[in-house]
Amino acid sequence: MPKCDVLVIGSLNADLVVRAPRFPQPGETISGDDLHTIPGGKGANQAVAAARQGASVAMLGRVGKDNFGDFLLENLKQNQVDVSNIQRDDASTGTAIIVVDANGQNSIVLSAGANGHVSFADVDRGSDLNPSLILLQLEIPTPTVLHAAQFAKANGARVILNPAPAQTLPDDLIRLADFIIPNETELSLLTGLEVKDIASAEAAAKALLKRGAENVIVTLGSKGALVVSNTQVIHVDTYKIDVVDTTAAGDAFIGGFAASLLRGLELKDAVRHANACGALAATKFGAQPSLPTKDEVETFMSLREQ
Ligand code: RIB
Repeated sequence: MPKCDVLVIGSLNADLVVRAPRFPQPGETISGDDLHTIPGGKGANQAVAAARQGASVAMLGRVGKDNFGDFLLENLKQNQVDVSNIQRDDASTGTAIIVVDANGQNSIVLSAGANGHVSFADVDRGSDLNPSLILLQLEIPTPTVLHAAQFAKANGARVILNPAPAQTLPDDLIRLADFIIPNETELSLLTGLEVKDIASAEAAAKALLKRGAENVIVTLGSKGALVVSNTQVIHVDTYKIDVVDTTAAGDAFIGGFAASLLRGLELKDAVRHANACGALAATKFGAQPSLPTKDEVETFMSLREQ
């Protein structure tokens, strides 16, 4: 019997966030707003995003034996995410230093801390969870991500890979993912091709298909999302919103997409739902506090589609 629908194997970070009118130049000091400590980390954000869309979710990863670790675990529990596969590590909890500018764009520096110690053995300990979907990102060691994808395939689970933060990847990992979901920057780095619009995103996504990818979904911010597979190319528009903070908008998309796939939505409808999750997340400040519930997304979509 499955113990969860979705298993997220990835990072947990305490986000230390300051709003500032703009990003500082190298060597420059500028004044910002108050400091906020907010639960984040791409893995944990995607876990909460899927749970708020109604999926049963477990998270596998590492936090330190410190107050930030307690804070992150407590927030996951409050969002009904199973934390029994999160180890307490001797290293500090992962931290992200974030500046959000007046346009809601962010600039992030990560300190991996305990995330850097997520191991093959940690992944293997999750074998009794029996999920149907595994979500992976790149804020834990890449060999562990590859091992997790192999583990997923050996256990009959589908894999969604969010190749973020941007880096190059081995073809072995690309081949194991059922869905790869990069943004424009990540797709560009993965393929070495310039991605600046829908046409160049399609060309770069097709280059990933040639390396063995099955389905590529490129998130294009205000330009929506592009689904590219060997049988179809679909562009799905997104919703116009007033951006407050884009932090975790991509994570909201991925969690929302995973939950929609599990509910049996057609690919295009799942992407439309994911777009609504991402758009709503960008209307609120912070990572996990900004992630919408299923009711919020359904109300938003029905109002926008009238
Ligand atoms: O995707 C947003 C996340 O990236 C933030 O929450 C921060 O922790 C970094 O991991």
